[in-house]
Amino acid sequence: MNFKDYIRVINDFPQPGISFKDITTLLKNGQAYREVIGQLTERLQGKQIDLIAGPEARGFVIGAPLAIALGVGFVPIRKSGKLPGETIEADYALEYGKDKLAMHKDAIAPGQKVLIADDLLATGGTIATSINLVKQLGGEVVGAAFLIELLELNGREKLDGAEIFSLIQY
Ligand code: PRP
Repeated sequence: MNFKDYIRVINDFPQPGISFKDITTLLKNGQAYREVIGQLTERLQGKQIDLIAGPEARGFVIGAPLAIALGVGFVPIRKSGKLPGETIEADYALEYGKDKLAMHKDAIAPGQKVLIADDLLATGGTIATSINLVKQLGGEVVGAAFLIELLELNGREKLDGAEIFSLIQY
């Protein structure tokens, strides 16, 4: 299955010059969505993982079903002000705009092996910040998994040392 056939590319969204990869057209196809989670699961099977962490919002759509498939828990990495318990926060810059990400202080027990999952690796800002938060909580980041990687933005370079892979690249 060629996932690109299911992903709609919308130019100049959310601002001029950005070529937006719209995964909603893939997600609404049950077979394609299932295949994405199946392929990610296959790549990760046998790896020691205690938890999947996924950044809001599209990271939930990939991370939560992956956690179920692997039989591990899921913890959300949310935009600031959304989590009700005690949190730690970190600033981050996006391909467009800027925000703060937060995690519950008790989301991860020290030493737990955490895999970060998201739909897209662009500049790497979101995942670098996510890695930083997981490490601050004492978690060990065992890798990061993506559906899509935008190669020209060199996000990988920001993630030195982390084992990362993507199912498709643009
Ligand atoms: C998108 C995407 C990734 C991030 C990738 O999320 O889902 O999380 O940007 O960009 P980066 O590698 O340059 O950081 P966005 O912040 O737009 O939020 P959303 O999932 O809530 O739409």
